[in-house]
Amino acid sequence: MKKYFLLTPGPTPIPPQVAQKESLPILHHRTDEFGQVFVEVINGLKYVFQTKNETLLMTSSGTGAMESTVANLLSPGDEVIVASSGVFGDRWAKICDAYGIKVIKLDSEWGRSVEPQNIEETLRSNPKIKAVFTTHTETSTGVVNDLKTIGEIVDKTEAVLVIDAISGLGAQTLYTDDWKLDVVVSGSQKGFMCAPGLAFVCISPKAWKYVETAKCPRFYWDYRRMKKSVSEKQTPFTPAVTLVVSLAESLRMIKEEGLEKIFARTHKLATVTRAALKSLNLKLFADEKCACDVLTSAMVPDGIEGGKIVKTLRQEFGISIAGGQEKLKGKIIRLAHMGYIDQFDLIVGFAGLEIVLGRLGHKVEPGRAVGVAEKILGEHDKNV
Ligand SMILES: Cc1ncc(COP(=O)(O)O)c(C=O)c1O
Repeated sequence: MKKYFLLTPGPTPIPPQVAQKESLPILHHRTDEFGQVFVEVINGLKYVFQTKNETLLMTSSGTGAMESTVANLLSPGDEVIVASSGVFGDRWAKICDAYGIKVIKLDSEWGRSVEPQNIEETLRSNPKIKAVFTTHTETSTGVVNDLKTIGEIVDKTEAVLVIDAISGLGAQTLYTDDWKLDVVVSGSQKGFMCAPGLAFVCISPKAWKYVETAKCPRFYWDYRRMKKSVSEKQTPFTPAVTLVVSLAESLRMIKEEGLEKIFARTHKLATVTRAALKSLNLKLFADEKCACDVLTSAMVPDGIEGGKIVKTLRQEFGISIAGGQEKLKGKIIRLAHMGYIDQFDLIVGFAGLEIVLGRLGHKVEPGRAVGVAEKILGEHDKNV
């Protein structure tokens, strides 16, 4: 027998009460019953986004919603800034390229956050810039970007700020309206504790003006049609009804716990994980000054093949963690601590890592990371 532990930064585990909703009979999407659930979901999403702005739901992975922002806000030939420090920041530039948008790319070293000052200077010297694209938590490296500062900078210009918060929303602080974020995108399979397949986007009044004039081709992704449907308590096309019903349940759970408590709990799990991995003499990959709360990345020790750690954990112990992507393939491991992942799931992960690292030749004292984690977890924290 092998139990299954999912510690990857998406998809993440689903609470049983959410999974149960997926087995209910399918509602027809043009009924009042579905309409009621849909309205509850849209209101719940606005709570998680911390916004009063128009909020839309799509049946798609997160990347689809990222693409929808480019299609709805821009016209071919428009100039934009993409501030990137990893795979998902780079994805914005690839999508813009596909739509004929001119990209000024501001790259930061992987493991560090994007630099707000760089964005400010670039906006100043390029007044034609229509939009600034960046990422909330960069899942490929484990850093969080300073969206509050970037929001203040972009708000002073004609450009709109577009955020990929696919891995961070509902887990790490993000306040759409207070931080002046014009467009924020997220997906169901991470902080929302749901299965993959739904994506969300909220759009400020400033960004809606762009939606009205954009010339990029759009059909399935057309926000104007989606907005009209939301006002009729439905979606333009057949949605993933089952997922919408289960999302209503996870949003109830999120509301019941409260966002601030979730942020504090996720932060504590991040603190525990960083300490546990360091105690195994693993060097953290993300600069600790900007390490995010939703996952922790650590360097693979010299002489060990990163892929082997991930594969052995999964095949022998049923524990799924993630390796590195693109230029970090084989070089880092990534453990998630967002959504429904709790302290004891992490302790299983640490124990598994101790065994596997030891077997692969890394000097490990059995129980070391688990002991460090227990010590921190045992400290009373009134915020969590
Ligand atoms: C920050 C970020 N952006 C974009 C994506 C892509 O989302 P999806 O795989 O749902 O298209 C992910 C998923 O890992 C992510 O973490």
